[in-house]
Amino acid sequence: GVNRVPLIAGNWKMNLDHLQSIAFVQKLAWSLKDARHDFNAVEVAVFPPFTDLRSVQTLVSADKLPIVYGAQDVSEHASGAFTGEIAAPFLAKLDCSYVIIGHSERRTLHGESDENVAAKTKAAIASGVVPLICVGETADDLEKHGASAVPVAQLAAVLDSIPKGSDFVVAYEPVWAIGSGQAATPEQAEQVCAALRSTISEQLGEEAAAATRILYGGSVKADNIAGFMRQPNIDGALVGGASLDVEGFSAIARYQ
Ligand code: G3P
Repeated sequence: GVNRVPLIAGNWKMNLDHLQSIAFVQKLAWSLKDARHDFNAVEVAVFPPFTDLRSVQTLVSADKLPIVYGAQDVSEHASGAFTGEIAAPFLAKLDCSYVIIGHSERRTLHGESDENVAAKTKAAIASGVVPLICVGETADDLEKHGASAVPVAQLAAVLDSIPKGSDFVVAYEPVWAIGSGQAATPEQAEQVCAALRSTISEQLGEEAAAATRILYGGSVKADNIAGFMRQPNIDGALVGGASLDVEGFSAIARYQ
């Protein structure tokens, strides 16, 4: 998209412990550096498990690596009696740039509602961590309502919680495309991402719509990334499985 810095984001999900995360990030930085001559002006982000974040922070800051990072989830609350939860101010202290909110696995496996997603988004923004808000339709939704209706409704439900001028990222991940090897076509994804951008424009204004990055996620690989990146309303990718392979992820970040 015009004037938006592309974001290539790797969601590790529940993979790689803190020792593995150090080796991985080190190798990834080397791979990106080697390729510098054909490297787009792209922001590369990794989303490790919570227990890796301190190690990743230490490595990235000590070696000034060209990689940013974030968490995969966050609590709605700033502190208190919430056993097992992680607060946004803790992520901010670890220099997390981003936090993934409302991933379909959180929505389905942990029953997260649009209200939860909105509250978490608010909490992240209040702490200065940029929310990466995930939306997407199931195969059933697609059949019943078409591709755009559910993702647009999910996004509309959270936009009210975003103060004007705040930075946020949206990831369109059709649930049927996640981990299935069956990516959406670039044209299908573009259509939904364009609808999401219109929704931002309607609720937060044209300026916010023009500034906000919208990513596609769902079976993104080195050999299909370029098609998505050519679409005017797709500003990057949220990558699951293929983000766990250093060379594969680095190749995705170097899409041409
Ligand atoms: O958050 C990214 C993820 O859900 C997509 O997973 O394995 O299809 O790239 P994958």
